[in-house]
Amino acid sequence: MAATPMAETPDTALGIEYWNSQPASIDGVLGGFGEGSLPRVDALGSRLFLLHLRPELCTVPSSLKSLSPLPGAAEKRFRALDVGAGVGRVTAEVLLPLVHDAVVVEPVTNFVNEALTRSTSWRGIPDATKSATIIQGTLQAFDPACPIRLPEATLLGRVGRSLPEDQWSLEDVSGFDIVWCQWCLGHLSDPDLVAFFKRAQAALRPGGRSLIIVKENLCSEPDAVARASYDPEDSSLTRSDALFKDLFKKAGLTLIREQIQEGFEAGLYPVKMHVLYNFSSCLNIDPRFTTGTHYNDNHIAERNGPGYPCTGGEKK
Ligand SMILES: C[S@@+](CC[C@H](N)C(=O)[O-])C[C@H]1O[C@@H](n2cnc3c(N)ncnc32)[C@H](O)[C@@H]1O
Repeated sequence: MAATPMAETPDTALGIEYWNSQPASIDGVLGGFGEGSLPRVDALGSRLFLLHLRPELCTVPSSLKSLSPLPGAAEKRFRALDVGAGVGRVTAEVLLPLVHDAVVVEPVTNFVNEALTRSTSWRGIPDATKSATIIQGTLQAFDPACPIRLPEATLLGRVGRSLPEDQWSLEDVSGFDIVWCQWCLGHLSDPDLVAFFKRAQAALRPGGRSLIIVKENLCSEPDAVARASYDPEDSSLTRSDALFKDLFKKAGLTLIREQIQEGFEAGLYPVKMHVLYNFSSCLNIDPRFTTGTHYNDNHIAERNGPGYPCTGGEKK
């Protein structure tokens, strides 16, 4: 479905200028929604969703845990990328509780420095069983296949597990099992977003089970027409569901699952998790992700509300 023409497109510098003016805190990155239930509900929803997709990430015996782990899963280290990461909220609350190694990418200096400070107490960091790598850069310039390529990105630090360089394995430093994109993709224009998705899928680890997860606000789409709503305050777009799907397709990604985040307070934009998969790179496809199996856990047609957890209400 073709997108309607957009009057405005995000400006990278204006977006960064806006976020530079916000406090380097959970409340700051969530536009004032950091003090209530939203961060807990969001993190819990994300973690359960991820566990449902990858039950082998469960760290305790549970009904979510796969009864027959896939070959090689037991000894594997899982590596996740958290983009537009703010102060590292998603890495701290969702990713590192489940995976071994996380890479955090964020352009705003105050946020990325705060993430580096906070990272020393994230799960698995004090005992060096896990690692977090903090990188400063924009998504427009960032290439997940070469995370610290200069001058597009600056490596600020790595905390937790570290190995002498001569003991590095590809498991430690290359490719991602999970690329998590939350509440930041509105800072990319449509062409930049498609280009980023293409780079991200090229950096997914082979084997058929690596995923890109997009968790974003959705604007309404009367008559099911793909559209976006521009917010001049932070120079960002809120896209509709159909527009996201159009862009996933343009990037060559297959949508395998979509689920509305339940439990946010009334009046906010609906937030949906889209799970994307690159079939063409898959050698051994997980049977749960077979072609044509597309789970739509929620329908949003009548759910578009007027509010937005990050920057205020929907602009109509
Ligand atoms: C609403 S916050 C969300 C932060 C984090 N994803 C979370 O959920 O806690 C939006 C984030 O996008 C970042 N951002 C803005 N422009 C960006 C760009 N061009 N590339 C990557 N991230 C960007 C902001 O600095 C900010 O940290």
